[in-house]
Order: sequence, then structure tokens, then C-alpha cells
Amino acid sequence: MKILVLPGDGIGPEIVAQAKKVLAALQSDGLGLELEEAPLGGAAYDQYGAPYPEFTQKLAREADAILLGAVGGPQYDKLDRPLRPERGLLAIRKDLNLFANLRPAILYPELANASTLKPEVVSGLDILIVRELTGDIYFGQPRGVRINEAGEREGFNTMLYSESEIRRIGHVAFQAARKRNRKLCSVDKANVLETTEFWKEIMIDVARDYPDVELSHMYVDNAAMQLVRNPKQFDVMVTGNIFGDILSDEASMLTGSIGMLPSASLDADNKGLYEPSHGSAPDIAGKDIANPLATILSLAMLLRYSFSAEEAAQRVERAVKAVLAKGLRTADIYEAGTEKVSCSAMGDAVVAAL
Ligand code: NAI
Ligand code: MG
Repeated sequence: MKILVLPGDGIGPEIVAQAKKVLAALQSDGLGLELEEAPLGGAAYDQYGAPYPEFTQKLAREADAILLGAVGGPQYDKLDRPLRPERGLLAIRKDLNLFANLRPAILYPELANASTLKPEVVSGLDILIVRELTGDIYFGQPRGVRINEAGEREGFNTMLYSESEIRRIGHVAFQAARKRNRKLCSVDKANVLETTEFWKEIMIDVARDYPDVELSHMYVDNAAMQLVRNPKQFDVMVTGNIFGDILSDEASMLTGSIGMLPSASLDADNKGLYEPSHGSAPDIAGKDIANPLATILSLAMLLRYSFSAEEAAQRVERAVKAVLAKGLRTADIYEAGTEKVSCSAMGDAVVAAL
């Protein structure tokens, strides 16, 4: 199995180096993995003058799975939009048709105090948000800024979903729900937006293939409220690109620790790009203090979804739980009574636990 590693920018190389240690340990235990490495984002701009250069594209298309750190940084903010690091990320998602974004939000018992919500509201939280990633208002045409008939400037974007786009993300979500507690909540704004009323209609149709999964519907504004009022009522949520962007960030904060949250972006054949939910954290880059666990947990998702290596995935997850149980914490999750460790020491500890 071929894994392409894209360290990216900022803390990317530091956190990815820890995941590579874990990979090396799994390899030495006989898991057949082959690694390649390429730049993406700002690192790719520096080297090739483009955020998703041909060199990276070729390897990305050949790989079975991709592990990414993060991209972006203030030194690239003045570049034209097409050259910016974040464009590299959009480009690779689109190029590989990674339409299904899986974002788990899990509160580990050892980190119960990290959440800003009351322990009884979030303890034991384990939800999965399935976000459609290649359609919706982020990609719909036409878009832009124009002069209207009254001679005033106006901005516009188009919310657009084809039936097949909704069906395929629906199937991913129902299958994910089947592997969990068989409860799926589809989030829409069907009372106001035709596109999402259509979304709801198609989800109801897809549900006929999954009689064992209980489908419910919720308006996105209510979903935003319910996520902070009583998040444990949810198991799997499925929604479009823009609602999913916002709700998945909201859900990640229920756990209080962005440094802990992995993500997967999959195509129709379970080829996937796996990355921590956070960005390149330029404020702490190069200091060896970033939390590498979101990246290591992304590697666990890679093993699970792209390679069906469930046992190896669980080994990695158990190793992460073991280091937390030992009291080891990077700065972002540190609290009194625990032991503060560096990014690289955390990586070493996970390997030792593995
Ligand atoms: P960010 O997620 O990079 O950082 C937000 C805050 O969380 C910062 O204080 C940072 O130090 C902290 N943080 C993030 N990851 C951490 C970790 N692993 N351990 C400890 N602390 C951590 O978001 P921000 O600051 O809005 O964006 C910074 C850059 O990252 C920008 O250029 C942005 O465009 C890019 N970005 C890239 C993403 C990606 O590659 N998928 C996603 C989000 C942002
Ligand atoms: Mg976001």
C-alpha cells in the first residue's frame, strides 16, 4: 500500500514527523506500507511556484492514501488567491474527488476538563459529522461580484447540488451510521432553501436502502443550538459543504482541544486524504510544542478507511489513550497534575505504548 505524506507548512512537518514514527513502528511489525513524500501548500509554492504542483499531483494520484499535516502561513497572505497554500488543499480535494469528509468529535475521559461545557453535557461524547466536501455554495457557478441593473455592485454565490452528489454522500453517511449506533441526522434548511429541501428528499429516498438505520432531520440553526445544548443526542450527522464546515468546527470545540481531532476525506473507492482538523498554527511552529495526536489519530483513520486495517487502527488509538492515561500532555491540553511533554516526546511515547 502506498502512502503519500504531505508535511505542508507551519507545524505540519513537526506533527507529521511523529505520525511517521508510528508508521515506521507499524512497518517494522510487518504492515506492508510504502512511503513517498511531497510538498503541498506554501512549501510547494516555495519549491515549485504553485501550491499543488504537478510533482505532488502525480504522486497523489498514484497513492492509495495521503497523510497531510496542514498548510498556510502569514508569509503567503499577500500572494494572489490561486497561489495561496489553501488553494492547494482545495485543488487536491477536487482533483481526487474527495467528496466525503468524516470528522469525529470524541471527548477522551482524561481530557474531560478541556471542554468549556459542563462535564455532564459532554462526558463520553462520541459523534461523527459527515460533511459533503466538493459541492454546494463553495463550488457552485455562477459566482462573483458584478454590477447590477441599478448600477450597484453585488456579490453572489450559487448553492448547487446534483442528485448524484447527494446520493453518494448519503450512502457514505448511512454506511458510517451502520458501523456505529444506527442513528443518522440529516441537517438542512429545507424551510428556506430549495437546494436543501431537495437534499432532504434524496436523503429520505437513500434511507430506503438502510431500513436498519433511523433517519431524522434537523434545520441547521437548530442543529447549531442542539450541539451545545445536548450534543450526545447525536450519533452521525450528515450535511452539505457549508453547513458541515461550520457544524464540524463547532462540534470539534465541544471537546476543547483542536490538537486532538482527526479527519478523513474520502472518494468513492475509499482512497482518502487524512489530516488533523486544525491548521498550520504558525504561532507555535518550529517550537516542538504542537500536539501531534490529531495527526496520529488521522493515521489511525487512514488505516481503518483506506486499508481496512481495523486492528492496526485500534492499536494506534489504544496507544494514544494509553499515553493520555499515563498523564502525558502537550501544552494545549496541559493541566495541573499532568506531565507536560514536547511534540516529539509525545510521538515517542505513542510509539512506546504501541
Ligand atoms: P490553526 O488551527 O492553525 O490555529 C488555531 C489555534 O490553535 C492557534 O492558537 C494554534 O496554535 C492552535 N493549534 C492548532 N493546532 C494545534 C496543535 N496541533 N497543537 C497545539 N495547538 C494547536 O488556525 P488558524 O490560526 O486560523 O490558521 C493558521 C493557518 O492555517 C492559516 O494560514 C490557515 O489558512 C491555515 N489553515 C489550514 C488548514 C488546513 O491545512 N487544513 C485548516 C485551517 C487553517
Ligand atoms: Mg472550517
